[in-house]
Amino acid sequence: MTLEQRFVTEPPVSEPDRQHFYIARAGEYVREESNRLGRVLSATITTFGCQMNARDSEKLAGILRQIGFVDEPDEEKADFVIFNTCTVRENANMRVYGRLGQLNHIKRKQPHKMIALCGCMMQEPEVVEKLQKSYRFVDLIFGTHNIYKFAELFVKCKEAGRMTVDVWDEADKIVEELPNERKYPFKSGVNIMFGCNNFCSYCIVPYVRGRERSRNPRDILHEIERLVGDGVVEVMLLGQNVNSYGKTLDVPMSFAELLREVEKIEGLRRIRFMTSHPKDLSDDLIAVMADSKKICPHLHLPIQSGSTRILQKMNRRYTKEQYLDLVKRLRDAIPDISLTTDIIVGFPGETEEDFLETMDVVEKVRYDSAFTFQYSKRSKTPAAMMENQVEAAVVKDRFDRLLARVQEISAQACGRYEGKIKDVLVETVNDHDQSLVTGRMDNNLLVHFPGNETLVGKIVPVKLEECKGFYYMGNQES
Ligand code: SAH
Ligand code: SF4
Ligand code: F3S
Repeated sequence: MTLEQRFVTEPPVSEPDRQHFYIARAGEYVREESNRLGRVLSATITTFGCQMNARDSEKLAGILRQIGFVDEPDEEKADFVIFNTCTVRENANMRVYGRLGQLNHIKRKQPHKMIALCGCMMQEPEVVEKLQKSYRFVDLIFGTHNIYKFAELFVKCKEAGRMTVDVWDEADKIVEELPNERKYPFKSGVNIMFGCNNFCSYCIVPYVRGRERSRNPRDILHEIERLVGDGVVEVMLLGQNVNSYGKTLDVPMSFAELLREVEKIEGLRRIRFMTSHPKDLSDDLIAVMADSKKICPHLHLPIQSGSTRILQKMNRRYTKEQYLDLVKRLRDAIPDISLTTDIIVGFPGETEEDFLETMDVVEKVRYDSAFTFQYSKRSKTPAAMMENQVEAAVVKDRFDRLLARVQEISAQACGRYEGKIKDVLVETVNDHDQSLVTGRMDNNLLVHFPGNETLVGKIVPVKLEECKGFYYMGNQES
């Protein structure tokens, strides 16, 4: 009897039951192959891009584990290799193609190896076309909207025995109650919303992640309670624009209201969130942050450009002055707040004067750290069609000047805690020196101090002895 004949029962129609059915069926395939090879099967997921993708990968890892795969970080050895891709900038795509080239080489020697591609890049039809034409060795391709169907797609691919492609234009639903496997036992990302409706003119995310959808607050709170029961002390609430949380719910709820509920969860020690769009940051949110004992005094507040003229062309819907005013209100309410940002250099039509406006914001706000990017033309976005694309050499020159200044300022900003005692959540034993552990303060800064693995996952007071630019060396206080 073949495996196919053994599965005569029809899969359930409703989720998540349908996926639990397919997890069991996929498990049969894995067991069968394991028996044939006389060893367990292994898998690895390589994640590109943002925290959303990282969380998606944890969901895939949870399903892989239930199907019966063990973890094998080495792509060369793993029986199943998954790339969860990002397409926010051209170089993110190039990295994926580069890695795929290497995998092709390996697969020639190990034909049984299974390769899957998923994530944001797969939502672009031209990418999938290129893969179908020139990367035939890839077994399974799926997108951002159907990752919950991973087990079903795995089975489909096994049964088809050839390249299987399933990419959807839009999400049909949010499926709860599926497995996931966290990277860290003590902290976790929690999706509160998916997609984005902002359509910043340079950005491909709304096209590859679809329309904004908020998760039901009950499901979010329930997930966090379960995580806390399982040892999690810190959560990161995830969304492309958390400040617009709840607008699409049947009973609308604001992000500030959601935070108040999350704060009440006993045993939870730290709450972080990302990302905040300046245009939607409410006074209520500032008040909740100022009152909270658990929300970390850190805000990632992407400015993108300091020039009001460019901000308008970017469709960001705030001016330089409004942004600076927001920073002032935040600092008035939460004096020690740590501010970080994203900045794009070389947006179409950016002049030297526009760029100097960006430099001016950097001087005025003095970010604790800033991610700086050279503008990258993304297909379908309005900015890609704009005239006056800035010459590469000019972009590079501005980028270097910005980066140098941003780094100088963040080294100075980092130093302001020297000599103080701060709570640190210990994350790992230090890679380079086993006598040290590494953790994070509430403002996200890294601290290394003497300790051992018994401290991992604990929050301990640490005296910050010496600032080394972007991190501290310290000693645990008793
Ligand atoms: N939702 C988040 C950002 C997600 S993308 C927000 O609005 O802040 C992360 C960052 O990538 C953006 O903040 C932006 O700085 C950068 N980015 C997005 N598209 C880009 C492009 N076409 N070129 C260069 N950088 C880009
Ligand atoms: Fe992109 Fe703007 Fe949405 Fe952020 S808010 S994901 S930058 S479109
Ligand atoms: Fe990249 Fe997709 Fe995130 S494009 S930045 S992985 S939402």
